[in-house]
Amino acid sequence: MKILLTGASGQLGRCIQDRLPEGWQIEALGSAQLDIGNKAQVDEIVQAYKPDAIINAGAYTAVDKAESEPEAAARVNTLGPENLALAARDVGARLIHVSTDYVFDGQGTTPYLETATTNPLGVYGKTKLDGERAVLAALPEAAVVRTAWVFSEYGSNFVKTMVNLAEKRDALGIVSDQRGCPTYAGDLANAIISLLQVQAEGGIYHYGGDREVSWFEFADEIFDVAVAAGRLAKKPTLSAVTTEQYPTPAKRPAYSVLSGEKIKALGVALSDWDSALKEIIVKF
Ligand SMILES: NC(=O)c1ccc[n+]([C@@H]2O[C@H](COP(=O)([O-])OP(=O)(O)OC[C@H]3O[C@@H](n4cnc5c(N)ncnc54)[C@H](OP(=O)(O)O)[C@@H]3O)[C@@H](O)[C@H]2O)c1
Repeated sequence: MKILLTGASGQLGRCIQDRLPEGWQIEALGSAQLDIGNKAQVDEIVQAYKPDAIINAGAYTAVDKAESEPEAAARVNTLGPENLALAARDVGARLIHVSTDYVFDGQGTTPYLETATTNPLGVYGKTKLDGERAVLAALPEAAVVRTAWVFSEYGSNFVKTMVNLAEKRDALGIVSDQRGCPTYAGDLANAIISLLQVQAEGGIYHYGGDREVSWFEFADEIFDVAVAAGRLAKKPTLSAVTTEQYPTPAKRPAYSVLSGEKIKALGVALSDWDSALKEIIVKF
């Protein structure tokens, strides 16, 4: 299997490279080598490498900044995936594209199915939703994997932010009225590899953690794990704050639990994020 990986320096990109099955070849390109928003460059690289599958781990992920940079976000999150889908179609490659729980408005009260109505609250979610649609319109055989609350030993994420803050402060206020499922990027990488191995049919798949929490509960667990592992000397005092008390440029869904039933039916396990958290807490 020849894989072309885009966004190779991000959390997911790094985790995919760490887990590539034996015998698979990979061309792993960061944004400096392949800008997915550049159609001519995408075409040239895909035609030259002729991959069996393209995995798009590249995205404009600055959710708040996207509100003031909608064109830049759309270029990477909508035009980029479309460029990849068209190029994949030309060489007969599969495409696995990654999307987000932020395509939903968070008004749901039960885990979102792949067929649930979308209604993004901000620019990031809107550009990602447009990207999903562009991919599936150009290449219905593509798999679009929506995930949420991604963390890993790499890049920036909530786990690292919490540990870094706790090194500087004794007390922290954490949002307690947004619920979702943390997802370890390494588990997501394995799930994507599995989708290629089982030759999953085209369409949308939800993939996330096997247990839901609020950001407050997640932070609480991060600190317990960090103290137990000797990563932090002591746990900071936590207080619950509401979304209203912690305004951000982009609105976020209050409830973004994704149902993993469809992908589980293919034999793919959801992210055991508790175990992953214990493993990665000492790796950064
Ligand atoms: N992180 C989350 O909590 C979360 C939640 C839901 C869904 N997702 C989705 O999961 C996927 C992986 O996210 P992640 O957490 O691994 O993101 P990440 O760590 O922010 O990595 C994204 C990567 O995309 C690259 N990139 C930016 N512009 C690009 C371009 N024009 N061409 C090619 N690559 C470009 C970035 O490269 P540079 O660093 O060089 O700019 C970066 O390495 C994304 O599709 C994201 O939307 C993430």
